[in-house]
Amino acid sequence: MPACIYGNKKIINTRDGSYTFYSMEYNESYKTKSVGAYTESLHKFVNGTNIIERAREKNIRLLDICFGIGLNLAVTFDEALKNGITNRIHALSVEKDASLISIVKNTHILMPVNGYKVVRSLLDNNYVDNFSMEIYIQDAVNFIYSLNHKFDVIYFDPFSKKHNSEMWSDDMFCKLYSLLETGGVLTTYASGKGIKESLVNAGFSISSLVSLGTRYQPATKAVKY
Ligand SMILES: C[S@@+](CC[C@H](N)C(=O)[O-])C[C@H]1O[C@@H](n2cnc3c(N)ncnc32)[C@H](O)[C@@H]1O
Repeated sequence: MPACIYGNKKIINTRDGSYTFYSMEYNESYKTKSVGAYTESLHKFVNGTNIIERAREKNIRLLDICFGIGLNLAVTFDEALKNGITNRIHALSVEKDASLISIVKNTHILMPVNGYKVVRSLLDNNYVDNFSMEIYIQDAVNFIYSLNHKFDVIYFDPFSKKHNSEMWSDDMFCKLYSLLETGGVLTTYASGKGIKESLVNAGFSISSLVSLGTRYQPATKAVKY
């Protein structure tokens, strides 16, 4: 594996052979090393929201919080390609760290390869086939409060509440509830009691995803009925 350090981030290999980064600023990795970056993204965000099944029925508007190294989007586009999805998947993504864009563009060992090809194309062109993406490099809190379009799916993937507390407020979950279409779904890797309570208080019906192993917390699925 290349020993790559980009500023305050370093690349790490994860259990399933896919790569992610470790942030020395937040002292957290972008995905869980012991689960596998690709595996975690596929399970907790793509399969957890049933976004591919939803995209068989209609065009999908996806709110991606936060872009990071774009893995959740790369896995989404990869699965859409594998499943022959022809409806549009439009991703609106927000990320405060501009350096991640050039990291994604230049780190060609990231997997899944075809999904990342779509992400890299979208970073330059906004539209590729039936995929489109708008990415906003700014603080997610203000950005999310400024939104008024509705979404079918929300990926909620900041760093942990301990290190990224501004993202995990009760007000944030109320706003996200208001941004979802009825029947829409949000998933997050977190499953702490306080976070579940915030989701329920915002109006969501919550459930736990199947855990990826006895050592791991299950992710949380939150649906707006
Ligand atoms: C766990 S990583 C996201 C991983 C990403 N979803 C992926 O699939 O690669 C968390 C990201 O949240 C970003 N972030 C943290 N606080 C933020 C904020 N207030 N506004 C925007 N982005 C933020 C960090 O820069 C980091 O890239």
